[in-house]
Amino acid sequence: MKKELVVVIDFGGQYNQLVARRVRECNVYCEIYSYKTDLDKIKAMDPKGIILTGGPSSCYEEGAATCSEELFNLGIPVLGLCYGAQLMSHVLGGRVERAAVREYGRTEVKVDKTSALFADVSENTICWMSHFDYISKLAPGFRAVASTENCPVAAAECAERKLYAIQFHPEVLHTTEGSKMLYNFVRNICGCCGDWRMDSFVEESVKAIREKVGSGKVLCALSGGVDSSVAAVLLSKAVGEQLTCVFVDHGLLRKDEGDEVEAIFGPEGNYDLNFIRVNAQERFYNKLAGETAPETKRKIIGEEFIRVFEEEAKKIGAVDFLVQGTIYPDVVESGLGGESAVIKSHHNVGGLPDCVDFKEIIEPLRDLFKDEVRKVGLELGIPEKLVFRQPFPGPGLGVRIIGDVTAEKVRIVQEADAIYREEIANAGLDRSINQYFAALTNMRSVGVMGDERTYDYAIALRAVHTIDFMTAEAAEIPFAVLQTVMSRIINEVRGVNRVFYDLTSKPPGTIEFE
Ligand code: XMP
Repeated sequence: MKKELVVVIDFGGQYNQLVARRVRECNVYCEIYSYKTDLDKIKAMDPKGIILTGGPSSCYEEGAATCSEELFNLGIPVLGLCYGAQLMSHVLGGRVERAAVREYGRTEVKVDKTSALFADVSENTICWMSHFDYISKLAPGFRAVASTENCPVAAAECAERKLYAIQFHPEVLHTTEGSKMLYNFVRNICGCCGDWRMDSFVEESVKAIREKVGSGKVLCALSGGVDSSVAAVLLSKAVGEQLTCVFVDHGLLRKDEGDEVEAIFGPEGNYDLNFIRVNAQERFYNKLAGETAPETKRKIIGEEFIRVFEEEAKKIGAVDFLVQGTIYPDVVESGLGGESAVIKSHHNVGGLPDCVDFKEIIEPLRDLFKDEVRKVGLELGIPEKLVFRQPFPGPGLGVRIIGDVTAEKVRIVQEADAIYREEIANAGLDRSINQYFAALTNMRSVGVMGDERTYDYAIALRAVHTIDFMTAEAAEIPFAVLQTVMSRIINEVRGVNRVFYDLTSKPPGTIEFE
C-alpha cells in the first residue's frame, strides 16, 4: 500500500521542523523540502497535501523566496502558514503590505466556524502571531475566515480549490488549538486516513531490512547514544548475529558509560548481535597530548575514531552493509532536505570511513525526528535511561575540557559531572532541563581546604533550556541545588576547589565550551 505523504515546503522559518512533527502527530507521514525544489519532483511524490511554512522574507520584495502559481493549480490542497499564507495571497493576486505595528505573541483570534479548517475549534481562541507584513487585500475567490484586533485577515480560504492561508503559527504550542487546525487540514481537507504509526514503523522497518540484507553481513559503529543504539537494536531484531557492532571507547565518555554500553549490548546484555568493545583510551590521550586548539582537538578525535574503527573493520573483513544512525534533522540540516542549509561539522550524515569495505549504507532512522526515535527505542525495549539520554557530543569530554586533555583531567570532569547529574536527578529536574553537564575550565586558583592552601581547578556547570539546540537559555536551577552540587564536588573530587555556574545563553555562547 502506498504511504500517504504531506509535503512541507520550507521557506526558512524557525518552526519548520515543528510543522512536520505536528503533522506526524496526526499519524500522517510528512517530509520537508526547500522552496527551491523543482515542482515536478514534488508532483511526482503525489502528495495528499502541501504546507507552505513561515519564513523571514517579505514576499513582495525582489529576490524573496517564492513559488510558482502552478503549485496552487495542481488540485492538491495547500495550506500556507504565516509567510506561506502571505505568499499564497501575493502569488494569487491579493496584496501583502507592511503593517503599522508588528503583531507578536499570544493573540486572541476570532474564527469562522463554518470553515473546515476550524471544525471543533472555539470561536475565540488563542494563537501565536509573529509578523511584520499582513494580507491587506484578499486574492480573488478567497474569503477571510479569522481575524484579530489588528489583523483583518488572520486566516483565509478558497474552499472550492482547497486553498487555505493562516497568518499565525498553528504548529507552536502557544496556539492552543493549533494541532486541531492542522488535523483538520491533513485529515479532513486532504483526506489522509492517518495510518502512519510508530509500531507499524518497527514492523515495516524490520521487514524491509530483512529483505534488503538477505544473508549479508552488517557493521554498525555504536556510540551508546540514542540514535546509534536504536539503529543497532532495530538491525539486531531484523538480522540478529549477521550484525556486528563496534563500540570505540575513546576515554572521553562520561563516568562508567563504557561499561553501561557494554552491559546493554555486550555478551551479558539483551540483544542478539556481535559486540566488540575497543578500549582505545590511551591511544586518544596520546594523540591529544599538549593540544589546546578546540577545532584541532575535534579533528584529532574524529580522525582517530575513524582509524580505530577501520582497524576493527579490517579484522572483520568485507561486510555488505554499514549502519548509520542518521535521523531526519541531520538530513534537513545537512542541506539535503529543507531550506535551513546550515551544515554542522558534527552531523554524521555520510561521515563514516569510505575505506571500510562495504557495499551499501543502511540508515533505518533517516525519516524520524528525535522524539520518534525515542518512541521506537522504548518500543524495542531499550532501557529508559538510554532512550532519554541527553545529547552528548561525538568528541565527548574532549570538548568539555578547555585546553589540553589528560587522563587526570578526564577523571576530574567525569567525577564532577556524575555528581552534578545525580543531584539534578535528585531534585527532579532531569527531564525538564534539555542538556546539562560539568566542564573543566583550564583555570586554577588559590583556595584553602582544611588548613592547607590549594591551587586547583575550577569546574563550570552548564544547564540549558532549548528546543532546537541552535539557541538556548541558561536554566534556572534552585540555589540550594547548586550549593549541594558545589559542596559535593569540592569535597569528593580531588583537584577541584571552585565551582562556577554558567549563565550564558546561546548566542553568544555555545552550549559546549569548545
Ligand atoms: P553547541 O556547542 O554548538 O552545541 O552549542 C549544540 C548541540 O550540539 C552538540 N554538539 C556536538 N555533537 N559532535 C556532536 O555529535 C560535536 O562535535 C558537537 N559539538 C556540540 C552539543 O552537545 C549540543 O547538544
